[in-house]
Amino acid sequence: MSQQFQHDVLVIGSGAAGLTLALTLPTHLRIAVLSKGTLANGSTYWAQGGVAAVLDDTDTIESHVEDTLNAGGGLCREDAVRFTVEHSREAIQWLIDQGVPFTRDDQTSREDGGFEFHLTREGGHSHRRIIHAADATGAAIFRTLLEQAQQRSNIELLEQCVAVDLITERKLGLDGQRCLGAYVLNRNSGEVDTYAARFVILATGGAAKVYLYTSNPDGACGDGIAMAWRAGCRVGNLEFNQFHPTCLYHPQAKSFLVTEALRGEGALLKLPNGERFMPRFDERAELAPRDIVARAIDHEMKRLGIDCVYLDISHKPADFVKGHFPTVYERCLDFGIDITRQPIPVVPAAHYTCGGVVVDQNGHTDVPGLYAIGETSFTGLHGANRMASNSLLECFVYARSAAADIVAQLEQIQVPTDLPVWDASQVTDSDEDVIIAHNWDELRRFMWDYVGIVRTNKRLQRAEHRVCLLLDEIDEFYSNYRVSRDLIELRNLAQVAELMIRSAMLRRESRGLHYTLDYPDMLPEALDTILLPPTFGD
Ligand code: FAD
Ligand code: SIN
Repeated sequence: MSQQFQHDVLVIGSGAAGLTLALTLPTHLRIAVLSKGTLANGSTYWAQGGVAAVLDDTDTIESHVEDTLNAGGGLCREDAVRFTVEHSREAIQWLIDQGVPFTRDDQTSREDGGFEFHLTREGGHSHRRIIHAADATGAAIFRTLLEQAQQRSNIELLEQCVAVDLITERKLGLDGQRCLGAYVLNRNSGEVDTYAARFVILATGGAAKVYLYTSNPDGACGDGIAMAWRAGCRVGNLEFNQFHPTCLYHPQAKSFLVTEALRGEGALLKLPNGERFMPRFDERAELAPRDIVARAIDHEMKRLGIDCVYLDISHKPADFVKGHFPTVYERCLDFGIDITRQPIPVVPAAHYTCGGVVVDQNGHTDVPGLYAIGETSFTGLHGANRMASNSLLECFVYARSAAADIVAQLEQIQVPTDLPVWDASQVTDSDEDVIIAHNWDELRRFMWDYVGIVRTNKRLQRAEHRVCLLLDEIDEFYSNYRVSRDLIELRNLAQVAELMIRSAMLRRESRGLHYTLDYPDMLPEALDTILLPPTFGD
C-alpha cells in the first residue's frame, strides 16, 4: 500500500546543499531529507580538493570575483559571483562551527595575521584560497553535516527514496502554479508514496552520468533538472559540461578523480616521453582553468594517438605528497602506482554540470514553492566554465539563502492536504529490463562521442536524432511498466541529454567548455542559453 506523508519542507537530496539547508532551517519545522540510495550517495562525499573562499588576510573579494569571471569565459552573472564570494567567509565559518575537521596550517597562526587552516591552490585561482580536509574534503564535510542532522529530531533522513515527479497545482488541474509535493518511489516497499510539503527543495546534484566516462557517482542523472523541466521551470546553459582534466586511467579504476590540488602543489602534466606540454597552450600552464587544460590533453591524445597523459608529482618530497594527498596516494597504490616515485596515467572525464534549473539568489525556481540549490541549479555563478572548488561554496551559500527565504514565508503557506495518490492501475511489471540497460549504454556512449570536449554541427545532429528515438521508446516504456530506479534515472537522463544537445546546437560560437569546430570563435556578446518548457507561463 502506498503511503501519504506531510512535512513543512521536503528536501530531495542529502548532499552538501540538501543537508546545509535542512540544518539551517528552524528546529520546529518538520523536514524530510530524501536520498535515492544511501545518504552518502551524491558527489559531495567524493569531493577532494576543497572549498574556495576569501579567508586569508592577503586575499580579497575582488580577486576571487575576478578569477571566477575570467574562468567563466565572460558568461558569469557578476551579481551572482559577487553574492557568492561575499558570503564565502560566513559559509566556511558555519562549517567550522558544525565541526568540519579542515586541515590546519602548521606554518601560520591567527596572531601573525595568517589563517589557522591550510589553504591550497587550484586552476584559475590567483591566490591560495581553497580550504580542505587533506584530499577528502567532501567526506569530512558530509560526515559532519550528517552527524549534526542525525541529532535533530525534526529532520527525518530517508534512504532509498527516489523522487519520481513533482506534484504541482497545474498538473492537478487546479488554479495556480504552486509546487505541493512529490511522488516518491520507496525502493524497500516498491510503492510510490505521496509527500505533501509547504516547500520543496531540489538538491539532487548534477548530470555528468550522461557521459560514458565520468568522475561522478552513479546517481548523477540530472533527476532534479528533468523534474523541474516537467514541472514548468526554465533551464539554463546546459551545453556547458565540465570535463575534469585528470581522472585516473586504469581499467579497474572506475571514476577515480586525481585532485587538481596536486597541480596546485606543483604536479606537472607530461607526455609519455616525459615532455611538459601545458606551457604550449597557456601561460598559466598546469594551473590554467579546467576547460583549457582538458582541451589541451584531448588535443595531445588525439595528435599522438595515445591513451592517456601523465601527472607527475614525484619531484616533491614523499612525506609532503603522502601528507597532503593520502587518498590519491592510497588509491593509486591499490593499482600498483606509487605517486611519490611514478607519474600517474590520467585522462579527462565528465565532471560537472555548469547549467541547470534557473534560480534567483534565494534558490527560487519559476514554480512557486519550489527551490533548486547546489549542482542542480543554474545561479549564473559558473558562466561557461566553473572555477575549481566554487561548486561546494555555491551549495553552502545558496542553501543558506534559500533557508532564510523559506523562514520569511512560513506564515503564509500551509501544508497541502488531499493530494491524489500515485496511479499504478494501468501498468504491469516489465518483462524486458534489458531494454533499459541497453538504452543507458547507448545514450552515454553517443553523448561521449558526439557531445564531448570537441563538438561539430554534424555530431550534434547525430546525437539529436538518436536522443529523440530514445525518448520515444522510454516514454512508451514508462507509460506501460511499473517504475524502478533504473527507469526513472534513464527517463531523466535522456531528457537532460536532449536539453544539453538542444542548448549546444543553439550556441553558434566557442566559449568556455563549449568548443565546436564549426564556430571556433567567441561572439562579442555573451548570452545565456535559456530553454523554456512547453508549459512555461501556462
Ligand atoms: P550531491 O552531493 O550530488 O547530492 C545529490 C543528492 O540527491 C544525493 O543524496 C542523491 O541521492 C539525491 N538524489 C538525486 N536524485 C534524486 C531523486 N530522484 N530522488 C531522491 N534523491 C535524489 N566541488 C568543489 O567545490 N570542490 C571539490 O573539491 C570538488 N571535488 C569533486 C570531486 C569529485 C570526484 C566529484 C564527483 C565532484 C567534485 N566537486 C567538487 C563537485 C561537488 O562535489 C558537487 O558539485 C557537489 O558536491 C554537489 O552537491 P549537491 O548537494 O548539489 O549534490
Ligand atoms: C578537484 O579536487 O580537482 C575537484 C575540485 C572541483 O571539482 O572543484
